[in-house]
Amino acid sequence: MCGIVGIASNNNCTYALIEGLKKLAYRGYDSAGLATLVNKEIVKRVALGKIGNLEAIIKEKPIEGNIGIAHTRWATHGSPNELNAHPHATNKVAIVHNGIIENYKEIKNILSNKSLIKSETDSEVVAHLITDYLDQGHDYPEIVEKLLTELKGAFALAVLFTKTNKLLAIKRGSPLAVGYGEQNNFIGSDAIGLAPFTKKISYLEDDDWAIVDNKNIFIYHGKNKVDREISITSISRQSIEKGGYKHFMHKEIYEQPTVIGETLKSFIDPEKKIIKINSEILKTDIKKISLIACGTSAFACRIARFWFEEFANIGANVDIASEYRYRKLLKTEGEVVIFISQSGETRDTLASLEEAKKHGLKTISIVNVLDSSISRLSDENIFTLAGPEIGVASTKAFTTQLLTLLIISILLGKNKNFINDNFESKIITQLLDLPSLLNDILEKENELRDIASKIYNAKDVLYIGRGMGHGLALEGALKLKEISYIHAEGYAAGELKHGPIALIDESVPVIGIIPTNNLYEKTYSNLAEVKARGGKIICITDKEGKKNLEDLSDLIFSIKKCNDYLQPIVCALPVQLLAYHIACFKGTDVDQPRNLAKSVTVE
Ligand code: G6P
Repeated sequence: MCGIVGIASNNNCTYALIEGLKKLAYRGYDSAGLATLVNKEIVKRVALGKIGNLEAIIKEKPIEGNIGIAHTRWATHGSPNELNAHPHATNKVAIVHNGIIENYKEIKNILSNKSLIKSETDSEVVAHLITDYLDQGHDYPEIVEKLLTELKGAFALAVLFTKTNKLLAIKRGSPLAVGYGEQNNFIGSDAIGLAPFTKKISYLEDDDWAIVDNKNIFIYHGKNKVDREISITSISRQSIEKGGYKHFMHKEIYEQPTVIGETLKSFIDPEKKIIKINSEILKTDIKKISLIACGTSAFACRIARFWFEEFANIGANVDIASEYRYRKLLKTEGEVVIFISQSGETRDTLASLEEAKKHGLKTISIVNVLDSSISRLSDENIFTLAGPEIGVASTKAFTTQLLTLLIISILLGKNKNFINDNFESKIITQLLDLPSLLNDILEKENELRDIASKIYNAKDVLYIGRGMGHGLALEGALKLKEISYIHAEGYAAGELKHGPIALIDESVPVIGIIPTNNLYEKTYSNLAEVKARGGKIICITDKEGKKNLEDLSDLIFSIKKCNDYLQPIVCALPVQLLAYHIACFKGTDVDQPRNLAKSVTVE
């Protein structure tokens, strides 16, 4: 977790550091800080909370400097306070760190003066260790070699020295990139952090290190200078601005018809009405699929499982990555493991991928961020084209993941001869209608805002659904928890009677995901059981399903009638908008909810 920026310039870089940090705020916002070199001395400013607080402090007590490092923190070791805020500095170096130094306690014991450690972080030891190495007369190559031998865990580090106008970047396990400018060069956690400055980026590989000054960037691996590909990022400044919306989340919800259209275009030949995905693995005789992810991406997997069974007759296991990575992996003949991640950096998902590869399993990753750690490690990649997602609560990444998984399942069905050309073409025609189905919901946003205005004071909310509706119920509850801090749970509607129904009274809204499909009647009965116990019922259904639900429901939102397998993608939008408006009524920080970060690069 955490975001890192470093700049070597021939001008004052303080405000550019802040700008870079603002772009990385989605990685954490417990505290922020920066350090620059002024007259060969390290000058630091730190602030608790968001980057705006740091900016205010710098306005009050300005600092200058042409070279500097900055950090936005998601706390792991040590609570969010100013003492634990990065950069951590000695009289010779300042460092910013993303990752976890697992053996920081042992390192502390080998420092020449451990009493100088002031913070509770795992990171501060690195500044003191480098200082010891400098005191022993070592220069960059030996310092890096010694650090890479000594430090255990994951780290992306940017280091500022008093004795040179050069920055040192080191990467192992956590992502780190360098950016090429004119008269200035950069270090950043990712392309989004570097977007305000440059489009020319090289991603460092594990155990790479780089020396960055305002004229050059030299990348090394061990003692050897290496060339890492310079890629031109497609991330534009515009795509990471709010563009007139109050929140990124709102903007990203509204982008869904477009990004769903883009993702469709990349997988479908609209003329021939056939699916075109470049994958050798998908052509093999797949007998079992394991779907592995975290958070919202894992809920996309739970929904997708039904498609793999339905269209391709392939059994699909779903596991959350933090569990999968520690399970005994029993390799089955013909098994493929699919990893799903918006960021491509989630530590548990990445570690699961490493495990799967170690066991010789075939791996495919569905990721939104090109050149991410997961995409680089996976045997094959299939990219969602959601564009940069900044709001911490995932929205457009989720629906593009669903669409991608749906298309893969149809392709597998075709490869296995369960789906013929006619059926494929019919499904594609229906898929091409998705952007318009989503636009229809956006046009009715006010109805969802009204529903939100009636329930935002609830203390607990239940979401229920069956089949694919269950996966969406789980995602709905997660969305609400994340951004409104209301306690919410998602349940399989049929499971309610085995316990959760005890929670029902008139103060607990129950949101039923109930579009018309083969499970409609069953879900209806479960909602009737809630009604009988005085519960407040809100239904997300379609025009056909609405008629029957009028008597039962307190509030109803309806989507246009669509094919069963499109329902989770279409129903995702009302679920997201409902959570969004509830959070707005509550006045929470929608884009940067407390305690969370978008990209979780720690275990
Ligand atoms: C974090 C984010 C979630 C996201 C999850 C998995 O918890 O807050 O929104 O779903 O990580 O992230 P990934 O990038 O792997 O999809």
